[in-house]
Amino acid sequence: MAETVKDPPAATPSSTGLRGVVVGASTVSDVIGDKGQLIYQGYDIHDLANHSNFEEVAFLLWNKRLPKQNELEELKRALGASYRIPNEVIEVLRHTPADADPTDVLRTAVSSLEFYDSKARDISVEASRGAAIKLTAQFPTLVAAADRLRRGLEPVDPLPHENIATNFLYMLKGERPSAADAKLFDVCLILHADHELNASTFTARVVAGTLATVYASVVAAIGALSGPLHGGANTNVMKTLLEIGELDRVESYLKSALAAKRKIMGFGHAVYKTEDPRATHLRQFSKETGERAGNTKWYEMSRKLEELMMREKGMYPNVDFYSASTYYMMGIPLDLYTPIFAVSRITGWTAHILEQYADNKLIRPRADYVGPRDVAYVPIEQR
Ligand code: COA
Repeated sequence: MAETVKDPPAATPSSTGLRGVVVGASTVSDVIGDKGQLIYQGYDIHDLANHSNFEEVAFLLWNKRLPKQNELEELKRALGASYRIPNEVIEVLRHTPADADPTDVLRTAVSSLEFYDSKARDISVEASRGAAIKLTAQFPTLVAAADRLRRGLEPVDPLPHENIATNFLYMLKGERPSAADAKLFDVCLILHADHELNASTFTARVVAGTLATVYASVVAAIGALSGPLHGGANTNVMKTLLEIGELDRVESYLKSALAAKRKIMGFGHAVYKTEDPRATHLRQFSKETGERAGNTKWYEMSRKLEELMMREKGMYPNVDFYSASTYYMMGIPLDLYTPIFAVSRITGWTAHILEQYADNKLIRPRADYVGPRDVAYVPIEQR
């Protein structure tokens, strides 16, 4: 990624958050905010959600093209062969406090994974692709194992012949998911896989731009993802729904939250000015999981909140809004929603890291210095 700025604003106060600033070229994905369109390597997200699978999308993000049958089988075999994590890393998880946030646990575990990958410091194309496959294979195992250990349960061994979606739900719950849940979760993974230069991806590229390892870049990205304005929003959406509690309380809750100038999690987006295309699928999933579980309350409350947010603020739901009630109806613990985001986004992060290495320049912008100048130094005893 070249460190160029097209049409830079004359002065960029830190509060503008680099909105609209183009910092380089990428083929991985594009967000066309005014049209509500998202493409991965040229393919529309709706086509991928309707016809593809997560492993195929991972291949696409890393290789800029869809795989042939044998290439997909080979990738699946390589992923399956890497699902297991080293015992030493399981020990790290065992010694993590049970009340630690699972996204922080994932960040720490990925950092320690690096010690057990003999090729970790090799950032050649081949080794970096290997790291991308390993991390994509091992994120689900880490998240599921950490969750079981904090619940006093032993981790469940991965199933090397199953895909990532089925395998993750199996390792989390200790039983095979229904075909419907596995399929739906696979599409959730597709929908979260990449999103241009979001905060965590940009973070990954900045770190990769120093020629640090894939692992270091990914650890930094997880840190960025953990914030409530980014990947942390999905958990907070469900907390909001639970706090509201009942359909007939949605309106009064929203009125007082907006009067207090509180942001409603799961709404708004830095780029989309219309419906987030991922929300279109997730809205349907929230409905379907609710119907399958015989409880559409959270879906209905979400619909009401959506309707009222449109009326009051003209704002659309983003990817996090309906993923919250979808995961809740699948029986997934609230604080796993963000690590699950990472289980998918690891494919996008690594695609960007590979792209950064391929055409690297250290990312080093300038600040618009607005502090004082020429201040005389005063010795400490005279202050
Ligand atoms: N609920 C209520 N008001 C919101 C809002 C929300 N979710 N998101 C933005 N606004 C309001 C802000 O209060 C602000 O109002 P003001 O001009 O009266 O002060 C205005 O819209 C612009 O907000 P800003 O945060 O600058 O917008 P942005 O486009 O730069 O930010 C987000 C995008 C995603 C950071 C922002 O919409 C947000 O914080 N959403 C909630 C968190 C979330 O869901 N994040 C996941 C993103 S995928």
